[in-house]
Amino acid sequence: MSATETYAIRSSFFDITATASDPQKIEQQARYIEDGLLLINAGKVVSLRPWLEAEGALPIACPVLDRRGSLIVPGFIDCHIHYPQTEMVGAFGEQLLSWLENYTFPTEGQYHSAEHAAAMSEFFLQQLLSNGTTSALIFGTVHPESVEALFQAAERREMRIIAGKVMMDRNAPDYLLESAEQSYQQTRALIQRWHKRGRLGYALTPRFAPTSSPALLEKVTQLHQEFPDTWIHTHLAENPQEVAWVKKLFPEQAGYLDVYHHYQLTGPRSVFAHCLHLQPEEWRCLHHTDSAIAFCPTSNLFLGSGLFNLQRSWQEQIKIGIGTDIGAGTTFNLLQTLGEAYKVGQLQHYKLHASEAFYHATLGGARALSLDHLIGNFMPGKEADFVVLQPAATPLQKMRWHNSRDIWEKLFVLMTLGDDRTIAETWINGQCAWRQQHGERA
Ligand code: GUN
Ligand code: ZN
Repeated sequence: MSATETYAIRSSFFDITATASDPQKIEQQARYIEDGLLLINAGKVVSLRPWLEAEGALPIACPVLDRRGSLIVPGFIDCHIHYPQTEMVGAFGEQLLSWLENYTFPTEGQYHSAEHAAAMSEFFLQQLLSNGTTSALIFGTVHPESVEALFQAAERREMRIIAGKVMMDRNAPDYLLESAEQSYQQTRALIQRWHKRGRLGYALTPRFAPTSSPALLEKVTQLHQEFPDTWIHTHLAENPQEVAWVKKLFPEQAGYLDVYHHYQLTGPRSVFAHCLHLQPEEWRCLHHTDSAIAFCPTSNLFLGSGLFNLQRSWQEQIKIGIGTDIGAGTTFNLLQTLGEAYKVGQLQHYKLHASEAFYHATLGGARALSLDHLIGNFMPGKEADFVVLQPAATPLQKMRWHNSRDIWEKLFVLMTLGDDRTIAETWINGQCAWRQQHGERA
């Protein structure tokens, strides 16, 4: 298909048509069309309708791709991931702070090299695509070269990503530190070059409070005032030792979130990863400021950080997205990540229904990133980012799929048994960017 062409795809479709403030209500907003037709023009959704209704009204000579037997869903949205940690997934034996010291910082140290950053950006984006992830909020490293390479590679693929150079000026090895002024200048130059260029967006990315001096945080504030539609992306209350350290480093602030809030870094375009050890006033502050949380189940389990309280996030009415948090997380695949989110819920007697899970991975994630006017479902005018799922990728999956009563059980089985074998094709901006048979960009 060429980028400007009109065409249609016939398949089964599932999406969630409206944002939700109550998990019980998501089912009512869900749309499952067993035999449907998705019409696309110039990379945007024109309509999604049942085949029987749409067939007669097809534009003359409109090509129709036949994907019957598949299930097409909106592209998955990963709300927290570190691309320069791809090569260290599965680092043994540490919890957050010693994991950073022993594995993460040395790995990120490689990204001063533009060649390394370019090669890893290619690999990373292929991992996203082969796992059905079409959009992501991404950490780079402190090196401007890291995000430069990532944005270039994402632009070539027309992906809607948000990324930023890490800002950090203390409590890390010298080779990863910068001055507050240097951080400001380099970040500013990157924003001017990449923010809102095509489908790309820039996130101001102070790593977390412990690696940020007050002077650095002031620079983040200044940049956000200069460029108010940039995102803010950082970590919050992931690990008890980290929380205690922040108290020591910022004794004048009321708590961990108050450090960010003091520097005006909370708000509708702010995304805080983890949020496992929050005080009641911190939940309230996230709500009042309309900030979002990235829930990263595989990472939280892998680093032994804790269990995210999904139920509380609904009670407090806070926007939630799902993050893989590679490389503390253990998979790029959002189906597997949803399966782990379910288990985190089980440990707290919370039942994560498939409708809620798929909401978080699609439209809910889009809302958490303030992108729900552009992506997240198949409403007319949305950008055509979607995934063709092969529900019968393995004998077990095939048997279990056919042994499911309804779409909810089928989706639940997908998030329990699915993985990258389930991702048959990934489409970006109306074009096929990944197809399983070739294992390459289409
Ligand atoms: N906190 C500060 N940096 C990091 C990181 O790279 N990964 C995770 N999971 N938490 C962090
Ligand atoms: Zn992280």
